[in-house]
Amino acid sequence: MASNRLRQVQQHLEGSDPVIDPSRIDGQVVVITGAAQGIGRSAALLFAQQGGKIAINDLDKDKAAKVVEEIRRLGGEAESCPGNVLDEQFPQQLMDAVLQKWGKINILVNNAGFCNDSAIHKMTEDKFDIIMKVHNYTPYRMIRALSSHWMDPAFREMPKAVVNVSSTSGLHGSMGQINYATAKSGILGLTKTVASEWSRYNVRANTVAYGWIDTRITRPPTESEVMTVGGQVIKSGIPLNAKKWRDTSDIPLGRPGTAYEAARVMLFLASPMSSYVTGTCIECTGGRFM
Ligand SMILES: NC(=O)c1ccc[n+]([C@@H]2O[C@H](COP(=O)([O-])OP(=O)(O)OC[C@H]3O[C@@H](n4cnc5c(N)ncnc54)[C@H](O)[C@@H]3O)[C@@H](O)[C@H]2O)c1
Repeated sequence: MASNRLRQVQQHLEGSDPVIDPSRIDGQVVVITGAAQGIGRSAALLFAQQGGKIAINDLDKDKAAKVVEEIRRLGGEAESCPGNVLDEQFPQQLMDAVLQKWGKINILVNNAGFCNDSAIHKMTEDKFDIIMKVHNYTPYRMIRALSSHWMDPAFREMPKAVVNVSSTSGLHGSMGQINYATAKSGILGLTKTVASEWSRYNVRANTVAYGWIDTRITRPPTESEVMTVGGQVIKSGIPLNAKKWRDTSDIPLGRPGTAYEAARVMLFLASPMSSYVTGTCIECTGGRFM
């Protein structure tokens, strides 16, 4: 059985044109949550440039529509799928809508997220809960919503990949982020379980753990970067005076990463570039905490 599978892959590789770029995902359908800005937006543009058809989800429907316009202007294919990933029914509705439009889903990038920090003794159950929901429950529900499609024998040979997002907070802990660190650690076990259980359906699942990536989550907070989610007001940003956090002396590459650099790791994990990689976590941190 195993050797049959290896032979099939070898035949496929030998039969394919060696100049085909394994980072191409031509015709593959990609769902990216939280894709209106930051890392998700860069991933949407990059995946579209590599030939993917992109379903752009975000809470912010105006910004999501702009990303769709950008992709179409560049000759790519994209559709806006606005909505709150925290709504229990939303993951299934999202997948059903994408399947209705394109007939299949190859890649799921569970990117939507935010922080809601407090010191341990000041953390509330509500703040803890919403972070577990957005970084653990939602990715689980998104993946579960693909069950019948991805377990369908008619789609057995189709390439399928999940990319989940963790953080150095999840790998090493982080002061003031007991909720976020817990959830970003939990996503590692979730991902490995998908990789184990669904490899038989030709699904790969991997995580990328980011360090300091320059997005609104890590820029100084502004009045406009505030969102209301699940009845809670979430303020994005890290204050300029968070000196320890903003110190780059422990980052061997000496700077934060850009959203495009972050998105390239997602593309690696989603594309044939990583066809023999599953259940792992790649750290995209400029070397911080190595
Ligand atoms: N920027 C970093 O340094 C860093 C580090 C580690 C991990 N991460 C993770 O990377 C991911 C992307 O973050 P980013 O830095 O690009 O932040 P960002 O704020 O720029 O983008 C996040 C996007 O997710 C959307 N979103 C949030 N909650 C949502 C919901 N309930 N439903 C739908 N959309 C929702 C937001 O509207 C926003 O557009 C997050 O999971 C974050 O935790 C970021």
